[in-house]
Formats: sequence, C-alpha cells, structure tokens
Amino acid sequence: MAGYPDERPRRLRRTPALRRLVAQTRVSSADLVLPLFVREGAVEPTPIAAMPGVVQHTRETLRKAAVEAVAAGVGGLMLFGVPASKDAAGSGATDPDGVLSVAVRDVVAEVGDATVVMADLCLDEFTDHGHCGVLTADGAVDNDATLARYAEMAVVLAESGVHVVGPSGMMDGQVAAVRSALDLAGHDDIAVLAYAAKYASAFYGPFREAVASSLTGDRKSYQQDPANLDEALREVALDVAEGADMVMVKPASSYLDVVRRVADAVSVPVAAYQVSGEYSMVEAAAANGWIDRERTILETLTSIRRAGAQIVLTYWAVEAAGWLE
Ligand code: PBG
Repeated sequence: MAGYPDERPRRLRRTPALRRLVAQTRVSSADLVLPLFVREGAVEPTPIAAMPGVVQHTRETLRKAAVEAVAAGVGGLMLFGVPASKDAAGSGATDPDGVLSVAVRDVVAEVGDATVVMADLCLDEFTDHGHCGVLTADGAVDNDATLARYAEMAVVLAESGVHVVGPSGMMDGQVAAVRSALDLAGHDDIAVLAYAAKYASAFYGPFREAVASSLTGDRKSYQQDPANLDEALREVALDVAEGADMVMVKPASSYLDVVRRVADAVSVPVAAYQVSGEYSMVEAAAANGWIDRERTILETLTSIRRAGAQIVLTYWAVEAAGWLE
C-alpha cells in the first residue's frame, strides 16, 4: 500500500506461538550448571547474606540440593568447598578427606552419572592469604609452584569421582599441568573445563563471602584486565592447545562481546559464568520491586546464550529450569 512499509517484521511477533516458533535462542535446563558451596563441619546450611537464596551447604543438604538439581534437569553442578582451616599452601585442596573431595564423593554417590559433577580447581578457598596459588618469599603468586599444587588437586578430585575439573586460577600453563597429571594417573577420561578468559572483576564480590575468602588485595596480577579483548582470545587458544575440553568466559553479562568472539574462534563448547555479583544485583533490584525478577533472569540467560555460550553457570539454574523446558 502506498506510503506504508512492505517489510513488516511485526507479523512474526503477533502471537506467543509465532514468537516461540521463530525464537533463535532457546535456553533449556540442560544448558545450565548450578554452582554449589559446601562448608566443612557445618551442621546447618548457612545463608550467604550477599546472595539471598544461596547457602553454604552441609554435607547432608548438599546431597539434597544435588538430587533436586537432577530432578530439575540441570545439566551440571560445579562444587566449591569451604574448609574449616586454611594455610599458606592450601593443604585442604589436596586432602583426599578435605571438604571438596568429600563433597564430590557424596554427590557422585547420590546422583551418579545423572548429571555432570564438576569441581572448581583452585587454591583460593583453601589458602590463608586467599590467593589462587602459593606465594613466593616476597609475596607474589608463584606460577610454577602453583601448577604443581593444581596437578595434585586434579588427581585427588579425579580419584573422588569428579567428571570434570574446572581450573580457575589463571596460572599460565594450568590446563597442560592438570591434563598431564590426570593422564599420568590414569584419568585420561576426566574432562577439563578451563576458566580460560577470567577477568579481575568486581562482580566476584559476593563470592568472597560465599567461600569465606581471606583475600585482602586483588587478583590483578593473574586475572585479566577488563579493558582487554584480544588477550581473551590468546588465553583461550592456549587453553585449547593445552587440552581444554571446554572453555569458559567469566563474568558473563559485562563480557558478552568476549563470549561472542570466543564462540566464533573455537570449536570446543563455550561456557559463561554468571557470577555472584550478577546474581546479587538482580536479586537486590527485584527485592526492591524495581524490576520483574523472573523476566530479568530469563533475559540475562537468553542474552548469554545468544552471545554464543552453550553452557551457562548460574545460581538460578534450578529455579530457571523450572520455568524452561
Ligand atoms: C576462584 C573462583 C572465583 C569465582 C569462581 N571461582 C573467585 C575469584 O576468582 O576471585 C567467582 C564466582 C562468583 O563470583 O560467583 N576459585
């Protein structure tokens, strides 16, 4: 009709059925991974004030949470341990009877292969200085001495039955160190999800409470500068070359450009971690009635998938799974 546009994109937006049919991005429960915290010696779950709705589990409630996640169809679990005591070497991380190894054994005993059981492979929850590695005499994070600790931790976790380890400390060579330690110990079937492009982010703030971190400084000497994009591609290429089976970008929402570039660059599955601060911001705004909680959560998850992440780690995994297929 003269004077009116011939192109009418609105036609495909008219009904919910049309919108569903043409939706280019879908989020399903199988894409979501639930991070879980377990605290050594806890007799009841401890709420994390900065993350309303998230707790540090006891051994018992962790098992229940794992069962609930499997029932919801969640694709995987990422376990974090909070030890009762910490030291300079992060000894708890490599103790077969330490909180994380015990949690892995408990969860695998409970859910078997019904979901993917992953463990964060890092020392920061276990060190008294709170850094992701061991320190040199002058207080710097010692890259290569840390690799030896990661190698040991990988084998301990594999022996506990973990399906996937997630090295998250951003040490150079960490994927190669973990891969070769696993292979040497006969665990060549254990996969590595590399926290490949991990930024030194303020969005990890609430996580510090979640794992009772003792960190006083920052992680800028090993995590990436938020200003850099090409560096992420370099980190990802290194991790893939070192044998990463999957790579992760972290945080998610402020780094969707990084997710897209990484997804375009590699053929291994790409994950993105919607971190504690991303969670807390939405919860805080929703609690004030400033945004629609459910719509906002689904929009964030859709955006992360749309940017190219096949897998999304999110503290909303179980709840969101209930809204999704
Ligand atoms: C390191 C680790 C951190 C997170 C996941 N693994 C903390 C950090 O690097 O400072 C943050 C996750 C979150 O904020 O939700 N073990």
